[in-house]
Amino acid sequence: MNKAGLRLGVLVSGRGSNLQAIIQACSAVKIHAAVQVVISDRPQSQGLEHARRNRIPAIHLDPKAYSSREDYDEAVVRLLREHRVDLVVLAGYMRLITSRLIGSYRNRVINIHPSLLPSFPGLHAHRQALEWGVRISGCTVHFVDETMDGGSIIIQAAVPVLDGDTEETLEARVLEQEYRILPQAIQFLAEERLEVSGRRVILKSPKPTTDVRMVSPMIEIGL
Ligand code: GRF
Repeated sequence: MNKAGLRLGVLVSGRGSNLQAIIQACSAVKIHAAVQVVISDRPQSQGLEHARRNRIPAIHLDPKAYSSREDYDEAVVRLLREHRVDLVVLAGYMRLITSRLIGSYRNRVINIHPSLLPSFPGLHAHRQALEWGVRISGCTVHFVDETMDGGSIIIQAAVPVLDGDTEETLEARVLEQEYRILPQAIQFLAEERLEVSGRRVILKSPKPTTDVRMVSPMIEIGL
């Protein structure tokens, strides 16, 4: 990592509110990182607009222009390399990525998922949680491997599911936590404090906290 911090490449498909949280954490120097490029598979992604507004290169890469998912990911990797990206962040990226990308950035691709994995992987996590009737839900930042939402877990935050919750109200409560734990996971990586041991990710020198909000590992999030 250079003096300017970890060089991030963020992949988005839609609204891009997690991207915004990352950009804000970077500009407020709460995390030692900077977004170097934002890539979207969808031209109308608001994430591209947020990037442009912040003078970050924003690129729409059209999947239809490639004959396979591997070729598409090859093009993504080329762009990431051009921008000398150290860490790839999937922030609401709706495509399954292939070993082309995972292999080029082994343990250097992370994803945010809006449930407490391994519960409710895939699409419509909030709907799944409500239909199941769980009383606690949350979000997970994990390393990305070849499985869907199955890589080793870095950090999770829990929220209660309240009577009368809809997908929208639950999503809003979970998003608040996403904006905390995703920048925090990036900062762990910037500080080189994560050690991957099989499925488990060990956090070096954690600062214990008495914070009653359910964040695990139990650390003080200074964001
Ligand atoms: C978030 O809930 C994230 O966990 C999931 O997709 C949603 C993206 O939201 N992977 P945004 O585009 O960051 O606003």
